[in-house]
Amino acid sequence: MSRLLVTGGAGFIGVNFVRGWLARHPADRCVVLDALTYAGRRESLDGLDSRPGFRFVQGDIRDRGTVEGLLREERTHIIVHFAAESHVDRSIAGPEVFVDVNVRGTQVLLEAARAVWLAGDGMPHRFHHVSTDEVYGSLEPGEPAFTEVTPYAPTSPYAASKAAADHLVRAYHRTFGLSTSISNCSNNYGPFHFPEKLIPLCIVNLLEGKALPVYGDGKNVRDWLYVEDHCLGLERVLADGRPGETYNIGGRCEKTNLEVVTTLCRMVDEVFAGEPRLRSRFPQAPPSRGQMCESLVRLVQDRPGHDRRYAIDPTKIEHELLFEPATSFEAGLAATVRWFIEHEAWWRSILAGGAYREWMSRQYAPRKA
Ligand code: NAD
Ligand code: TYD
Repeated sequence: MSRLLVTGGAGFIGVNFVRGWLARHPADRCVVLDALTYAGRRESLDGLDSRPGFRFVQGDIRDRGTVEGLLREERTHIIVHFAAESHVDRSIAGPEVFVDVNVRGTQVLLEAARAVWLAGDGMPHRFHHVSTDEVYGSLEPGEPAFTEVTPYAPTSPYAASKAAADHLVRAYHRTFGLSTSISNCSNNYGPFHFPEKLIPLCIVNLLEGKALPVYGDGKNVRDWLYVEDHCLGLERVLADGRPGETYNIGGRCEKTNLEVVTTLCRMVDEVFAGEPRLRSRFPQAPPSRGQMCESLVRLVQDRPGHDRRYAIDPTKIEHELLFEPATSFEAGLAATVRWFIEHEAWWRSILAGGAYREWMSRQYAPRKA
């Protein structure tokens, strides 16, 4: 039986990970530690509280006493560390909290793990840091994709804070012998994605009949991975990944932002054409008003320092851990659109919140073309 502490387990990827883990490993214990910041949604974990293997603790990874107490009380031997400030645009608006949570928070977790796991004769354990491909910086078209030995060259405060956290994780492995691993993953999308990131923002804006803001010329490239595939990749790393190693996880799925947005537009047009009842549920959506979804696409002012292209070379995880994503971009995006249509209450409660409205008006009002 495995006993996991999942930090940030009320956020987008953490929720998908916990749900998938408990479904596939019903005898295991998953304790979620999450501060429930604006991005953490307790309701995303609804339905799990009745399971004996599940526990939710609201708390901060920067609180050493809480973390150490939980590790001892729960006899945790695996930490899966998702908790972070994760939105690049917010890191540009206010970098400080990114350093505090992503760097200092990771170091507090590492110290707590070291104190509990390496005391006396020590115990078998694993500290896994869920990181990002953004630590590698920006690629030009035609340049080879990021491998695990690509030098770090982060450009945004978010990416720099994740890079620093990665370095600390490696340092605790080399210096203290903590059994660690790191995965650097490309852009995820799927259920429970907070609607400030490109794909969920565009889906809810389409359903609400609002503009789809595409930064710059829309030709920036991201490498997209369905969130369930990321979670399956993490499970492979936890099962058979070697201590001290890094694994890149990606979907070999490079798309420009305009390709992503126009694909979403086509999908929403098709869904509405096949289900006329959606017109009364979403009267502002373009198909409900006899318009094409693409009519809402707007090129807006670019993000400062906007990385041109990310691309992951996943050869190592493919060969060493026999992991390959199961979901194509078309299938994953269609499932995501469907999820947002079916979980309107989840995103509407976010949209109704003052913090979300304030962020959106601050971020997008001056950018409208
Ligand atoms: P998210 O912003 O949706 O969720 C982050 C979670 O962390 C939230 O539940 C939040 O409440 C919690 N949290 C924040 N500060 C905390 C603190 N001090 N103590 C405890 N909990 C805290 O993020 P996400 O998209 O689910 O990303 C999860 C992790 O995966 C992050 O570390 C991110 O860097 C990494 N990652 C994300 C992507 C992506 O495409 N979303 C890709 C690669 C890597
Ligand atoms: P995002 O979802 O913020 O992820 P990241 O910046 O971590 O890659 O953005 C994905 C891409 O979409 C990125 O190139 C920025 C772009 N983007 C827009 O064009 N418009 C938007 O409103 C947002 C949020 C992002």
